[in-house]
Amino acid sequence: MKKIYTLGCLASLATLVSCSAFKISVPYEKEVHYVKLAKGQKKEDHEKFSKKISIVTQGSYASKAAYKVFKKGGNIIDAATTASFVLAVERPQSTGLGGGGFALYHDVKRNKDFPLTVDFREKAPLNAHEKMFLDDKGEVISRMSIDGIFSAGVPGMVAGMIELHEKHGKLPLGVVLKDAIDLARNGFKIYPELAYAISRRENIIKRYKATCEIFCNKKGEVLKEGDLLLQKDLAKTLEVISKKGRDGFYKGRIAKSLVKEHRRLNGLMTQADLDKYDVKYRSPIRGEYNGYEIFSMSPPSSGGVHIIQILNILRNDKLSTYGVQHSKTVHLRASAMQAAFSDRAKYLGDTDFTYVPVTGLTSQKYADDIRFSIPENKALNTLWSNMNDPFKFDAKNDSELVQKYESPETTHFTIADGEGNVFVSTQTLNGYLGSGVVVPGTGILLNNEMDDFATKPGANNLFGAVGGEKNLVEPEKRPLSSMSPTIVTKNGKAVLGLGSPSGTRILTCVVQTVMNYLDHKMPLYESIAATRVHHQWKPNILYVEESGLPARTIKELKRMEHEIKFKKLGCRVQAVSMEDGKLHGVSDPRGRGLVLGE
Ligand code: GLY
Repeated sequence: MKKIYTLGCLASLATLVSCSAFKISVPYEKEVHYVKLAKGQKKEDHEKFSKKISIVTQGSYASKAAYKVFKKGGNIIDAATTASFVLAVERPQSTGLGGGGFALYHDVKRNKDFPLTVDFREKAPLNAHEKMFLDDKGEVISRMSIDGIFSAGVPGMVAGMIELHEKHGKLPLGVVLKDAIDLARNGFKIYPELAYAISRRENIIKRYKATCEIFCNKKGEVLKEGDLLLQKDLAKTLEVISKKGRDGFYKGRIAKSLVKEHRRLNGLMTQADLDKYDVKYRSPIRGEYNGYEIFSMSPPSSGGVHIIQILNILRNDKLSTYGVQHSKTVHLRASAMQAAFSDRAKYLGDTDFTYVPVTGLTSQKYADDIRFSIPENKALNTLWSNMNDPFKFDAKNDSELVQKYESPETTHFTIADGEGNVFVSTQTLNGYLGSGVVVPGTGILLNNEMDDFATKPGANNLFGAVGGEKNLVEPEKRPLSSMSPTIVTKNGKAVLGLGSPSGTRILTCVVQTVMNYLDHKMPLYESIAATRVHHQWKPNILYVEESGLPARTIKELKRMEHEIKFKKLGCRVQAVSMEDGKLHGVSDPRGRGLVLGE
């Protein structure tokens, strides 16, 4: 069946750039809706082909600095370390020295058949406990896990990236951190996305003097777009780290200031927490899809488990025969997401503290059982939710919480070189500007990662994700994450590296990009630009990006009883593909980003 369309951002991405107004005939299966490039962004900054190196980050300073380090003779880990620290200066709304993250590193010289998988996620302080966010009546104290000192976990970013650099980098740390130091000291003009984040956190910025000293002007008003953001204390902190490495952060003056601020605000962190912070090397979650091997982040991230689970559920459906935005494809993708998020709430947590049935959840047998229970033409909705609802969740309360603003914080970058090495890392402070607490005299903004724990079973976090028993706070535990740095290989060679920010949406955005690329054989830019959907079981809503889906798809999804809401999802996929000796870097057109390479 064919339909006549105005050639308006449908069918092929070429039309995105110049949406002209003549009519063509597009078969339903081929109709694809894409997002447009974000305002003020240039296409050439978001897509580049290269041979020796490809650097894709959400920060123009970060990409340029990482490229400079590569040109100085640095390797992929030098470039990644530079990118991490410059992003910490350039994107304080997303990441920083007071945060943490995960990384996967496919190193062609490493004699292993899976990428090095590094966990530098924040930990709960030794004095933390499962009732720390509850009042005397056992009710969750509003915003305590989001704002202020109790929301901060023990930072891991510096330990993780410095350890990686020490073990695998080539250039001296002083060279690698130079641009981050200069950027913090000389400042940069606040860009719209950062201005927006600052305005969203105005109250918390003004609550803490050291925070306002950075993010306010002399009149005490928060900085706006175009104002200069100077982080002179942060520059000094970075200098100390560049000389002393990990100890520059976890010991000495910086550590003392951090502990002192916790003491001043009656917080929980002590020097013992900093001494005990440990980077963990994990086995990645692995799966097979369409003849490719997929490696992604293991717990304490839920990302890898559910990316593999969703791919397993859909692996025999041959969705490419229908089309990427056909109602059948969208229905099955959404149902698989729904099943995955139901399991996320029940089973996922930090495997150092709780049993997570990773093998079962990622097994093809379990996926086949789930696939069998998904009706072909009907949304899973309440029947599925009720069967799997361990929390008897209060639907009214649920929808109120989920309608809270969900910010697209966190950041991801991907770097690949011509030798076949790939580094993917997702790093975060959690919410915009993390906890809002800057440690006086250091410029370090502390994370609010404690909100990624379940404050009590069944309570929602910032992203509306329902948390279960396995993700309750315990001393030294790492909160459950959705961050999903992912590497795809074929016959042992990396073919794709990717990841994204945006909380629980990360894993559904990554899995859709992987399917678009591997299954529907879309070029990488189109794989990323195509409209995405998201379903996280609670609430029972199928979110569709505002760029939309074919009208027939929406009609049929409604007939299947999917409740649809159009919404920005906040993902910003940063990816590099490596095929036929070519590196192809793409930074999500939805956001700010810069691809550099040669
Ligand atoms: N804080 C976002 C995540 O860890 O997924």
